[in-house]
Amino acid sequence: MPLVVTTFDLPAAATELLAEVAALAGPEGWRDALPEADGLLCLLTDPIDAELLDRAPHIRIVANAAVGFNNIDVTACHERGIVVTNTPDVLTEATADLTWALILCTVRRVPQAERSLRAGEFRGWGMWDYLGGDVQAATFGIFGMGRIGRAVARRAAPFGMHVQYTTRSPANVPYEQVEWETLLTTSDVLSLHAPLTPETHHLLDRAALRRMKPGSYLINTARGPLIDEAALVDTLRDGPLAGAGLDVYEREPEITPGLLELSNVVVLPHIGSATLATRNAMAMLATRNAHAVLLGGRPLTPVLSEG
Ligand code: DGY
Repeated sequence: MPLVVTTFDLPAAATELLAEVAALAGPEGWRDALPEADGLLCLLTDPIDAELLDRAPHIRIVANAAVGFNNIDVTACHERGIVVTNTPDVLTEATADLTWALILCTVRRVPQAERSLRAGEFRGWGMWDYLGGDVQAATFGIFGMGRIGRAVARRAAPFGMHVQYTTRSPANVPYEQVEWETLLTTSDVLSLHAPLTPETHHLLDRAALRRMKPGSYLINTARGPLIDEAALVDTLRDGPLAGAGLDVYEREPEITPGLLELSNVVVLPHIGSATLATRNAMAMLATRNAHAVLLGGRPLTPVLSEG
């Protein structure tokens, strides 16, 4: 019987499905089981590189329980005939919801106000206390009009925002497509929804951050390395940014020194897809991919290339 190694705890339904076609090892000591493994279920926190693959000569599938797959050397997998899969769609709505939670918290400074009340600083309603920015009628820039970008854009409608976007592939959406430079320099709220690739690494470098619209907000629920985090700290201190909402970081779980001391940043611990139903769906989709490949079939959601 084939062996599937998992790096994380699976829901019971996933374990039952896999039991039809494979024995299961892990997550304890999963690395030790690699030499015998036919399939691998893994997470975005597991780097899957050529060295690891060389220790797993029988592997036929690497099933990532995440939509992003920058943790996997896809070329090294494909060179070895290994199928790579991810989990698109199932986390789109949860991630879009969390993005909006972060936008509203960042622009209206909700966590800061809550912290202040808990600290005993609330002295009753104050005309000039706890002021934030406006979301309604603002210009909303979206970088990356894929599944999550679209779901985030849809949620902007009730706020009467002008939605503009920059994207790599053609997107048939009722928003204004603009050049990156326009998105960067004219958006009141700029939200990132692109994968981490060599092209998007440090998309927001020091120079780009300095060109952002004065008083604007930067939101990142995609991947941390899209932003040069040290440069972000400086830009949040000196402008032009009014604030940032981050769910992802350049070197998770490390946070760049200085970031947490700033009062105009809202920080979350990479929870975009963290609903029970969504995480179950991600685990199930990864499992179904492994199940299909081990039975000699096609995976449901293959990763075709690095892009
Ligand atoms: C992903 O799936 O890539 C997210 O970052 C975690 O859900």
